[in-house]
Amino acid sequence: MDARPIGVFDSGMGGLTVLHECLVTMPHEDFVYLGDGARLPYGPRPLDEIRRFALEIGAYLEAQGVKMILVACNAATSAGLHELQEAANVPVVGVIVPEAHAAVQATRNRRVGLLATQATVDAGRYDELIHALDASVSLHAVACPRLVPLIEGDDPFGEETAEAVREYAAPLKAEDVDTVILGCTHYPIIRPILQRVFGRDVTLVFSADETAREVAETLARKGVENDTRREGRYRFLTTGSTETFRTTGARFLQLPIAEVEHVALAELEAVA
Ligand code: DGL
Repeated sequence: MDARPIGVFDSGMGGLTVLHECLVTMPHEDFVYLGDGARLPYGPRPLDEIRRFALEIGAYLEAQGVKMILVACNAATSAGLHELQEAANVPVVGVIVPEAHAAVQATRNRRVGLLATQATVDAGRYDELIHALDASVSLHAVACPRLVPLIEGDDPFGEETAEAVREYAAPLKAEDVDTVILGCTHYPIIRPILQRVFGRDVTLVFSADETAREVAETLARKGVENDTRREGRYRFLTTGSTETFRTTGARFLQLPIAEVEHVALAELEAVA
């Protein structure tokens, strides 16, 4: 038995959609979630900068005494998962592999679309993984720079978001994809808009439940699970505004958010 918490991070609140599945799948585990709101969005940034952020946050979470790190951000997974796995002394799980698997299994016409941030598209990790799993499947990627700010903003379900989704979906519809990977942990929040634009015949792939299962399996394999009879606690840290995190975060988590603690960027940089 291991009572240490699991560390989870994202550029902002998108990773709370993954934390939600973790809290449901492992109600007995403790979690500490860090949202890097001060540096959101990651998507337009160069990959080496995002990699540095991931390494800083990973080191900070390790210093908080976590037993595992979940990178609940596709951009950070794309840019720095391997380096973080090498640097950390605890297991590190990312969010891209389960989605690539699910997409290859779901497609019938072997044409898969990817909606993601610019960084995730540029990193090309989905192309590599999908090609490795099934070389006959083609991937059509579209970067969606407007979506993360809209989803974290005041009116995520408004006309501007619907318009942006129509614009980003158009090239994928023209390519006749039958499966679309939501390659950013923010996107499930606007799933109804996405599904309406693509139609019921297109399978939307998002892997929070599979990622949560992978975390649970890794804990079991390593023999570091907490006592299954207890109810776990979860706490939140942000480099951005604690008030914004508290009010907007519940929309992503769909569970209560009590306290949010502020972490200065200098504290992250000092640990790395
Ligand atoms: N949730 C992050 C991801 O999954 C958003 C990246 C961003 O901040 O642009 O990629």
